[in-house]
Amino acid sequence: MTKQKYYITTPIYYPNDVPHLGHAYTTIAADALARWHKLLGKEVFFLTGTDEHGKKIEKTAKKAGKKPKEFIDALIPEFKKAWSQLEIEYDHFIRTTDPEHEKVVQEVLQKCFDNGDIYKGEYSGLYCTDCEAYYTEKDAPDFSCPTHKKPLENLKEESYFFKLSKYQDFLLDLYKKNPKFISPKTRKNEIINRVKEGLKDFSISRTSFDWGVPLPFDKKHVAYVWFDALLNYYSACQLPKKEKFWPADVHIIGKDIIWFHTVYWPAMLKSAGIKLPKEVFAHGWWTILNEKMGKSAGNAIKINQLVGYAGPDTVRYFLLRATPFGDDGDFSEQALKDRHNNELANKLGNLISRVSTLAEKYGLEKTPIKNISSKETYKKVSKYFEGLEFDKALNEIFAFIDKCNEYVQNKKPWETQDKKVLYELTNDIKDFTILLSPFIPSTCEKIAKTFNFKIDSKELDKPLKISKIKKSEILFRKIN
Ligand code: ME8
Ligand code: MG
Repeated sequence: MTKQKYYITTPIYYPNDVPHLGHAYTTIAADALARWHKLLGKEVFFLTGTDEHGKKIEKTAKKAGKKPKEFIDALIPEFKKAWSQLEIEYDHFIRTTDPEHEKVVQEVLQKCFDNGDIYKGEYSGLYCTDCEAYYTEKDAPDFSCPTHKKPLENLKEESYFFKLSKYQDFLLDLYKKNPKFISPKTRKNEIINRVKEGLKDFSISRTSFDWGVPLPFDKKHVAYVWFDALLNYYSACQLPKKEKFWPADVHIIGKDIIWFHTVYWPAMLKSAGIKLPKEVFAHGWWTILNEKMGKSAGNAIKINQLVGYAGPDTVRYFLLRATPFGDDGDFSEQALKDRHNNELANKLGNLISRVSTLAEKYGLEKTPIKNISSKETYKKVSKYFEGLEFDKALNEIFAFIDKCNEYVQNKKPWETQDKKVLYELTNDIKDFTILLSPFIPSTCEKIAKTFNFKIDSKELDKPLKISKIKKSEILFRKIN
């Protein structure tokens, strides 16, 4: 039987600086989802990477006194290191300077051009280099960028345009027929209303600098960085053995770039005759003192710093548990510490320590298992993963852990030395650990080793084999 396939992507980040907590958020969510689908036995393709062309990169490199490629090449290892520190298991890391990608960008540009959707004109408008986007006076009445709060630049240049205006009905129809295309629901109406107001053709080329992919039909121009960047999701599927993964099951992005992904992107694909992705999910922003965290704002928390403070699993757990995935969340070190101490150390850590210590001392004895709530939890967690409701999935799993703690408390196996109770508990531990593994994989591996089971959804229905248990190491040391 061929395995069901699942293709998931993160945005490709601008390597104009090292990655920060915001980038980690999207990437951790995508990793948890990818791991969940792997757990279910699917063949998963999880793509991340970097967005390396455009004015912003050129400008930053120049400031550093370097050539763009030289500048970026020094930053890519920082991204890879951050993802490895956070236990991110991506399948491919795409860079838009990869020649295979550049070739696809040119092919698609040519297709859109041949279909009559690209024409030459002149652009003048207000530009934000941090967004790599033009704004109208309506979006930015005070001539400053609504996202970055910096003054906009007045630009005027010869440019090619993509006939986005032609795709209004197509897009409205797409959103209607595919209710999940723009997720979560709360974001959908904003987009629909804006599309209904009418769409302007957008500029897809630049002549004022040359750090980009040359247009195949006019080499004086380089492709607009967003036209180039969006195509990464598709070009990665032109690599050997990856063809079967297109169209993507879900693009996970932040709400800052939802317009590009739900308006430009489907129109570009339609024009080129390429199938559309199934879902674009836009999550909220992490803020600090209610301001969006980011490189441009200068308030970004570096990944090194974060992992050094709390360890990878606490970071992963905290970011996905603390706020619903579609909403904004204000970051505080105190909240991170509280969840680490009260939930990971006290609830999960203590349970594992207690049960493994008692099992080492008294052993286990088989008994027909009446799991505390494995089946229900599995059902609910599956449903929550379906809707990318990570916080709810974690709430559910921790409610299960609470019940296990109550069970220990009530049965007092340290007094009764009841090996059957300990056996029941180890089965419950097996079940919630499997469900928890997409979130905190390295901790779950340790638990699986302690109790001798495999992390695999097939193990959920199987009673645990009796084995000799050794007391677990401490999983989470408290942070003072
Ligand atoms: O936009 N809170 O790259 P970028 C939550 N290259 N998520 C955040 C965040 C925050 N404060 N800050 C950043 C680009 N992110 C383009 C994308 S895709 C074809 C091209 C996350 O480096 C979030 O996923 O500015 C956001 O969409 C992304 O980083 C922007 O990263
Ligand atoms: Mg940005």
